[in-house]
Amino acid sequence: MEGQQVQSVSMPRIGDKAPAFKAVTTQGEINFPEPYAGSWVILFSHPADFTPVCTSEFMTFASLEEQFAKANCRLVGLSVDGLYSHIAWLRTIKDKIEYKGMKNVEVKFPLIEDITMEVAKKYGMIQPGESSTKAVRAVFVIDPKGTIRTIIYYPLSLGRNFDELYRVVIALQTADAFSVATPADWRPGDDVIVPTAGSCGVAKERMENKQDMTCYDWFFCTKKLAKDKVLSTILKK
Ligand code: BEZ
Repeated sequence: MEGQQVQSVSMPRIGDKAPAFKAVTTQGEINFPEPYAGSWVILFSHPADFTPVCTSEFMTFASLEEQFAKANCRLVGLSVDGLYSHIAWLRTIKDKIEYKGMKNVEVKFPLIEDITMEVAKKYGMIQPGESSTKAVRAVFVIDPKGTIRTIIYYPLSLGRNFDELYRVVIALQTADAFSVATPADWRPGDDVIVPTAGSCGVAKERMENKQDMTCYDWFFCTKKLAKDKVLSTILKK
């Protein structure tokens, strides 16, 4: 690549163990992922404190924290700002910002200070083509065994869709609990995909005797999975 500086960025991948780190946060020190064993976690980065898109995201995430907690999913934020900036920003959000009906919003989940970018670099959150001084909007969904199950990246200018992040957590948990896959735009109550036939015999059987399935072809069969069954399995009472 003539005339272009190539910088390598290390990025964990889906299926990898979430890289461990120690960090200072707005809720004290953490030794990640130790305290989160047994919980789902959304570890996410934002570019900078005291910026508008990030403020809208934090208010939204904090407002949804209880909803995520019911799905056994905890939130951990990160930016390359320092602890005192984080504290001042979160205080400003609580004391001064009213946005889309949200006000007096207290961010109770930890926000990591990462001035050295050590954690951000470990997770590939610094993407130099977008910014070499700020983290992009990365989202890592990590399961109770500490395995990365979904990664989503957004650029600096694009606020995340929190309905989608919640849908991702519920869909992953549904796939695990019921040994199914979830089709495009799936939401609880929609049909789910049964594992593809692994032999000619099963493929034939499925096409001839569909039982409780709908088969669009031998490799693409769905079945009903009631919304209340999904939610009562996944959500805490
Ligand atoms: C924002 O959160 O508004 C923002 C942060 C960094 C760059 C652009 C926008």
